[in-house]
Amino acid sequence: MVPPAATASTSLQGSPQAPASLGSPSAPAVKDPAKDTILTPRFYTTDFEAMAAMDLRPNEAELEAICEEFRKDYNRHHFVRNEEFEGAADKLDPQTRKVFVEFLEQSCTSEFSGFLLYKELSRRIKEKNPLLAECFAHMARDEARHAGFLNKSMADFGLQLDLGFLTANKAYTYFKPKFIFYATYLSEKIGYWRYIAIYRHLQKHPESKIFPIFNFFENWCQDENRHGDFFDALMKAQPDTVRGFTARLWCRFFLLAVFATMYVRDVARKEFYEALGLDAREYDKEVIIKTNETSARVFPVVLDVENPRFWVRLERLVRNNEALNAVEAADGPAPIKALRKLPFWGANALEMAKLFLMAPIRSEAFQPSVR
Ligand SMILES: [Fe+2]
Ligand SMILES: [Fe+2]
Repeated sequence: MVPPAATASTSLQGSPQAPASLGSPSAPAVKDPAKDTILTPRFYTTDFEAMAAMDLRPNEAELEAICEEFRKDYNRHHFVRNEEFEGAADKLDPQTRKVFVEFLEQSCTSEFSGFLLYKELSRRIKEKNPLLAECFAHMARDEARHAGFLNKSMADFGLQLDLGFLTANKAYTYFKPKFIFYATYLSEKIGYWRYIAIYRHLQKHPESKIFPIFNFFENWCQDENRHGDFFDALMKAQPDTVRGFTARLWCRFFLLAVFATMYVRDVARKEFYEALGLDAREYDKEVIIKTNETSARVFPVVLDVENPRFWVRLERLVRNNEALNAVEAADGPAPIKALRKLPFWGANALEMAKLFLMAPIRSEAFQPSVR
């Protein structure tokens, strides 16, 4: 469940009578949600009837085994704040503080987005598909914990996300179940690789551990790994989602969309990675290569991320994105700005098309041992 602290402070927003201490850890201010762009985390909804009617028999034993793992709730006692958090926020310089809070906000929003989707799914399919509903309920439990833990860290900086407001006001993207599978599978697996890469790096460089939340990443990422395994098993229970020509095209599309979005976003926020002693590009490269390799366990094709042209094109997206941000930041009427953005949007569309058309790699060739 979402901790009540995460939703209780709506009335303080913009209040002229707000106490002087508002914005302190004891009375965190409600942060306005970041503006929605193509790069911000999305909220999803789907066809609940189709989900409820899903036949799990082709892979029921594996799904049952995964559900049994979820029941064990390995991280039941993991997300407990300790004395290390006391005063930790005060040690950050203003620039690091700013980029770190952005990281917390974005992570909290995407964890919370997972919670909402899984919770709603478990509620809506409970009667007709109890095994699937139970798996979703366990995953919603994990994501609520993750989001709540991140939101508590935001409170250390005197800010808090109003998750109730987000639930009611954020736009929901509708995806057919199979698209939910591709998107959430990738976001769980990429989440695993992102968290574990940071954790391992900080183990080697403890002097770069700017906040105690990173101590929690090792067990945390195991939750994401299990969630990803669940979607892997679910796609194998619905083999048409990962078989045939259309499935191959969609898998390529989702891999590319997820990788390109992450790369452009992380390079634009490279200061956060610098604060941890990481190079955003190198970090993303590692995460993308690992996620691509993992995806070959279930997707019929993966991307040729070893091809240097793949990275050259991602860099062009980065530059176009920088140009778009510069236009946005400049003064001028909206229609003129849109006109000035047009060539960069066009260039982005062209690069994405070229990336999409790059020859993929058949997964049998990539992961022969598990296929
Ligand atoms: Fe999570
Ligand atoms: Fe997850």
